Amino acid sequence: MVLLGATGSVGRSTVQVIREMEGGLVLQGLAAHSNVDAMFKLIQEFHPPAVCMVAPEAARALRDRMQDAGVEGSRVLDGPEGLVELAALPEADIVLCAIVGIGGLPAVLSAVDAGKDVALASKEVLVCAGDLVMRAVAARGVRIIPVDSEHSAVFQCIQHRGESEIRKIYLTASGGPFRTMSGERMRQVTVEDALRHPSWNMGPKITIDSATLMNKGLEVIEAHHLFRLPFDRIGVIVHPQSVIHSLVELVDGAVLAQLGVPDMRHPIQYALTYPHRHPASLPALDLASIGALEFEPPDIERFPCLGAAYQAGRAGGTAPAVLNAANEVAVGAFLGSRITFAGIPQIVDRVMQAHEVTTGPNLEEILRADDWARKEATKWLLKD
Ligand SMILES: NC(=O)c1ccc[n+]([C@@H]2O[C@H](COP(=O)([O-])OP(=O)(O)OC[C@H]3O[C@@H](n4cnc5c(N)ncnc54)[C@H](OP(=O)(O)O)[C@@H]3O)[C@@H](O)[C@H]2O)c1
Repeated sequence: MVLLGATGSVGRSTVQVIREMEGGLVLQGLAAHSNVDAMFKLIQEFHPPAVCMVAPEAARALRDRMQDAGVEGSRVLDGPEGLVELAALPEADIVLCAIVGIGGLPAVLSAVDAGKDVALASKEVLVCAGDLVMRAVAARGVRIIPVDSEHSAVFQCIQHRGESEIRKIYLTASGGPFRTMSGERMRQVTVEDALRHPSWNMGPKITIDSATLMNKGLEVIEAHHLFRLPFDRIGVIVHPQSVIHSLVELVDGAVLAQLGVPDMRHPIQYALTYPHRHPASLPALDLASIGALEFEPPDIERFPCLGAAYQAGRAGGTAPAVLNAANEVAVGAFLGSRITFAGIPQIVDRVMQAHEVTTGPNLEEILRADDWARKEATKWLLKD
């Protein structure tokens, strides 16, 4: 396999899965952006034939480090071109993409074009270019296997059931750290408050997205492409315990759910071993000690990002890429304490309002829309 985003939160969990499988999975390639220390350690442990650091200066530093330490046998690629090359390595059967943001899109397309199955954690790839990617997947006869826990849950419940047997799917949301907070109080939350997720331990961007419910909105768009369902057949239900990872309602009224401890190693391992199941050392789900599972509808008034994502998804074309890019800029600004938490949906809304949607966009048009949205969002940041 090839692992893209090896040094991040999902990347680290994937590495744990690989260790546990004791040689069942062989790393042919690893990629990250700029974390040289973490990549160097991974090279020493796994000796992959090729790695890529997307930041060229990080690739140079890694080469120097390897030379000084006498570490040989791993070719170091660099830049976005290196990432695309790594994703298509002939030795790999499957590519797991856990790159945060749209940076993974060309690499995923490259893997698909090279005939590889893709285990996909990077939701932005399908959010921004779902039609394009799913067309390429169908043309090459490969599979996209979801890693996102909600989509993995739906995937596990649906199995080979056709769209005509499914009435609706429900993605569960923990509700984030501000689930019960008043709108008034939410205006004063700090970055530290927003980074304190109640049930999942994740990278900073997705943790903020979970606090605004934008993460759930992005997942709705991702589910639309993965399961080929219209938006009115994709619901969201808040479930604070994060034990049920999602539900599928079938046409006869039966509802199937997938449950488990909230740990990304489960969906990662399933994606990598699919359709087989391998033993894992995750703690068992102890329902008796959990006691009760609660559910409530999402509050779109307090969490407008969820509504914005449904709107962008329904508009289609370049709208979801613009939503995603504006959100990324806004979240970055919030993490840098340049805007308030309430500023995130405001920036997203302003950029969406100013966007003229291009329908059926190609890759270039998607990347152009992404670039435009980033500039537009930055413009609003500077104005405020
Ligand atoms: N964390 C979770 O539990 C979780 C759950 C479901 C889905 N996801 C999705 O999985 C993806 C990764 O999330 P995460 O939480 O693991 O993020 P993260 O901890 O921030 O890690 C991001 C990874 O991507 C690399 N990266 C960043 N920008 C890149 C670029 N332009 N080109 C190549 N590599 C780049 C980083 O490398 P450096 O370390 O060198 O910067 C790092 O390895 C996101 O799309 C997220 O929505 C995450």
